[in-house]
Amino acid sequence: MRKLIIANWKMNLGPSQALSLARDFKERLGGADAGRNVVVLPDFLNIAKVGEIFDGTGIILGAQDCYWEKKGAFTGEISASHLKELGCEYVLVGHSERRENLNETDKMVHKKIRASLEAGLTPILCVGENFEERREGQKEYVILRQVTKALEGIDVKPGFKVVVAYEPVWVIGSGQAISSDEAEHTHRAIYQTLVDLFDVDAARKSFRIIYGGSADRDGAEDFLKQPSVHGLLVGGASLDAEEFAGIALTSLKYAD
Ligand code: PGA
Repeated sequence: MRKLIIANWKMNLGPSQALSLARDFKERLGGADAGRNVVVLPDFLNIAKVGEIFDGTGIILGAQDCYWEKKGAFTGEISASHLKELGCEYVLVGHSERRENLNETDKMVHKKIRASLEAGLTPILCVGENFEERREGQKEYVILRQVTKALEGIDVKPGFKVVVAYEPVWVIGSGQAISSDEAEHTHRAIYQTLVDLFDVDAARKSFRIIYGGSADRDGAEDFLKQPSVHGLLVGGASLDAEEFAGIALTSLKYAD
């Protein structure tokens, strides 16, 4: 299977910058083998126009969040099915910046996972411990609780795909990732939780577990060669097309 390389542009780019970065991505990755497993998550303002630029290139479009209702009086929110209509295939759910800054709870995350699957999107569920939790020895407990609360009771129908992104909160944006051995170990624990929640077949076929948190071109290879690291969620390093394309290219070496 190919490794998934996801660009999370966050709220970093205004419309003109987003379009020029999208054109640069198209030039480097469009139509290329390395572009086929690349997903780009612009902010809501830029999804439509970035989608036009990526049209026919093979680069996949996604969003950074969605709301759990299909439509109605929910001022300021964006529906998963409307994102699907716009051409999105993936949606980030429960990113730590939303859990922290907007008080997103496990219950809200669960509803968003359900809504995105119903809309035909692949959710990217973000989980990870913060520094305090880690210092207190709570890391695995926190991650496994987040995975369980987000996914328990969800009927993983054949054909459903879910990505779990392990992102240690304390390394996001720090420039210093954790070791790839630690990522491998944590991904195995997440996989075991998926086996317990569903079964081996579903865990193997419907889920992919990727790493995020200061992933960059220099460190990408170490992560991508780990068997339980099925891809990378890239923030800061996705704002530089050359650097990001380097990561996408490296990932091809580890497709099985
Ligand atoms: P970073 O962000 O690569 O800048 O650490 C990753 C993320 O928050 O998804």
